[in-house]
Amino acid sequence: MSSTDVCPRILVIASGNAGKVREFRNLLAYLPLQLQSQPEGLQVDETGTTFAANARLKALAVARCSGQWALADDSGLSVTALGGAPGVHSARYAASDPERIARLLRELGDADDRSAQFCAALCVAAPDGEVLLEVEGRCNGWITTAPRGDGGFGYDPVFEVGDTSVTFAEMTLEQKRLEGHRGRAFALLEPQLQKLLLL
Ligand code: IMP
Repeated sequence: MSSTDVCPRILVIASGNAGKVREFRNLLAYLPLQLQSQPEGLQVDETGTTFAANARLKALAVARCSGQWALADDSGLSVTALGGAPGVHSARYAASDPERIARLLRELGDADDRSAQFCAALCVAAPDGEVLLEVEGRCNGWITTAPRGDGGFGYDPVFEVGDTSVTFAEMTLEQKRLEGHRGRAFALLEPQLQKLLLL
């Protein structure tokens, strides 16, 4: 019997975003982990200029504050015709999801080039300040001219995935896991996390 059978490792999901937390709970369900939410009211300033730098800041801050391993994700949407915006500012592009989508569609107007990319950087950090794991996943697609679908969160209704002709918001959680940036990043993280848990 391994030590993980007796006492599963606690992993704090370093996010206050309910959509992300739901996706992570789904992705992590098969690992021997006891998942916890991040401490109430904790706000980490995302001062990094890359997704990876911000994921690292969040994982380190939450690990330090909770005294447990923490998993953070920094993610966002980069639109080619907008010079990569909103990028690392995706969450702060406007006050709410519908307003963020409205601003994106307004700024893109009737641009011919509607190509875009979602990126998710994941980081697992320990309370002593050690960065245990870092990975990135990407998903290419197109910005639609109008929102489609009821699922997901954030920019999901206006992001059509590669050659699937459906938006993230029209996919099931399982489909999004297979096609999406976070699922792809997680596919890289999972075997490494498994290994760490066995140490
Ligand atoms: P942050 O990683 O917490 O800074 O937030 C990233 C922001 O990017 C989210 O608030 C969403 O607006 C957007 N975002 C990240 N991942 C997704 C996704 O899978 N679907 C839709 N929007 C996303």
